[in-house]
Amino acid sequence: MNARADLRWPFTVRPLIPQLGAEIVGVDLNQDISPTLFRAIYDAFLAHRVLLFNVGNLTPASQVAFARHFGEVQIHVMNQYHADGFPELYRLSNLDEDGRPNGKHPDKGTLAWHTDGSWKRVTGQATIIYGEVVPEVGGETHFCDMYGGYERLSETWKARIANLRAVHNLDFSRTRRHGEDPMTDEQRRATPPVDHPVVRTHPETGRKCIFLGDHAEYIVGMPYDEGRALIEELNALAVHPDLTYEHRWRDGQLIAWDNRCLMHRATAYDPALQRRVVRRCTVLGEEPV
Ligand SMILES: [Fe+2]
Repeated sequence: MNARADLRWPFTVRPLIPQLGAEIVGVDLNQDISPTLFRAIYDAFLAHRVLLFNVGNLTPASQVAFARHFGEVQIHVMNQYHADGFPELYRLSNLDEDGRPNGKHPDKGTLAWHTDGSWKRVTGQATIIYGEVVPEVGGETHFCDMYGGYERLSETWKARIANLRAVHNLDFSRTRRHGEDPMTDEQRRATPPVDHPVVRTHPETGRKCIFLGDHAEYIVGMPYDEGRALIEELNALAVHPDLTYEHRWRDGQLIAWDNRCLMHRATAYDPALQRRVVRRCTVLGEEPV
């Protein structure tokens, strides 16, 4: 029996690795989720931070309905990705109209460790991804624990970053770092750079964690290059193999994770040979403190 499972929960919890993540067995996400059931799912979410569901065929409506239990679902500024008539859903696909791989990776920024929506004042709480079609090779999603990333820092590092704030900027990460198509003026106006603490306190667990990742551009009050170097160093220092869950997808799986205390990344796949279609939605959380 896992210490972080509760016998009263009306589902089975199978830990993914000892430190992080759990598969939830015995919940049908295509059915209505009662408030009582959702409370138990949310408790498991806070405890395990990555929840995996082997759903089978999940409808877009069921995905959005599940996401709405967590809170307000973000309407993403990059509206070219909206899917299935639901502006809450953001589809990443490398298929052309005939369903063949088009050779273009839809968002290379996802290959670097990051936390969703950190470029907004109110950042992402949960991200909920459903894999419609997943590659046979590559295209994994990795999650690393930022509670552990913080706790394993030396006291010197903890003191050094205790009061620092980082400026997060989507245009920086997407366009300048990863060469994606430039954002339109309207999209850029909608996403002005915002600053957040480098160390945040999770609003529900009260635990401290590192809050940085690839959208973080520079440190407030520090020369630009010095801040860049600190961000790069800390982003690398925060990731530990034994605190990282590496998920290899199968079609029809859904994962919900807590952006407030994790970083995640996708691994590469060959977009000319492999097919990958995933639907994502991000639930808005709060302003980090
Ligand atoms: Fe992401």
